[in-house]
Amino acid sequence: MKDSPESLGRGDAALGRGRESPIEIMERSVSEGSPAGFGELQSSLARYDNCGGEMRIRYARRYGYGVPCREVLDLIARYGPLLELGAGNGFWSFWLRRKGCDVIATDPKEGGMHNRNNWLSDLVEVGAVEALGMYPGRNVLMVWPHYHSTWPSDVVQRMKPGQVLCYVGERPFGCCAPLTFFSSLKRNGFGMLHRRRTPSWDKVTDYLTVYRKGEASSSRDAPCRWY
Ligand SMILES: C[S@@+](CC[C@H](N)C(=O)[O-])C[C@H]1O[C@@H](n2cnc3c(N)ncnc32)[C@H](O)[C@@H]1O
Repeated sequence: MKDSPESLGRGDAALGRGRESPIEIMERSVSEGSPAGFGELQSSLARYDNCGGEMRIRYARRYGYGVPCREVLDLIARYGPLLELGAGNGFWSFWLRRKGCDVIATDPKEGGMHNRNNWLSDLVEVGAVEALGMYPGRNVLMVWPHYHSTWPSDVVQRMKPGQVLCYVGERPFGCCAPLTFFSSLKRNGFGMLHRRRTPSWDKVTDYLTVYRKGEASSSRDAPCRWY
């Protein structure tokens, strides 16, 4: 990893746990080997306005776009073995492996601040469609695909009935995943199994949504359908 935690932290650790920056919380979680909970991360993120400002940029440089917490990782881990597509620096797969989940992380590593650190030594540098062909039969995880990317809908189309897709990001018209992704979920018969909030920066509302291809949506776990 190129950046040291010291160069990234906000320097407010001395103020105590309740005032830790998101970076300080993540560094502590990594060193303790146990991810922080939703509440702790969300309270810390909420202290940074202006979409997270400088802190968000420093966070993304080290960990990526999505903010993983214990509850969300536990839910995703239930769906292993997994194939993570567009994994960036591999931080989500890093945590999922810590939880004993069998996960292969892939990303073509286009340029960007979120691709500089490597949390895994074996991340496979391929695009999503190629990865799906290389590792068939695994359930799929995608976290914060770009809002202009076409690969999420290509993946949805190619997944087989019964396969599960875990998507972390904003809803339609949000900052990630284009509308074509959501419409192809409907066209390809995906139904929602779960939805829950994930820690989010100011003016961002991220969710984990779990879908299965060929599954009717359950109204109990589907407060809004999005498609
Ligand atoms: C917004 S970043 C999110 C990265 C990571 N999931 C995170 O939360 O930090 C989008 C990622 O999509 C990757 N990407 C670009 N084209 C792709 C493709 N054809 N297939 C899979 N991933 C792709 C980029 O390299 C980048 O890492």
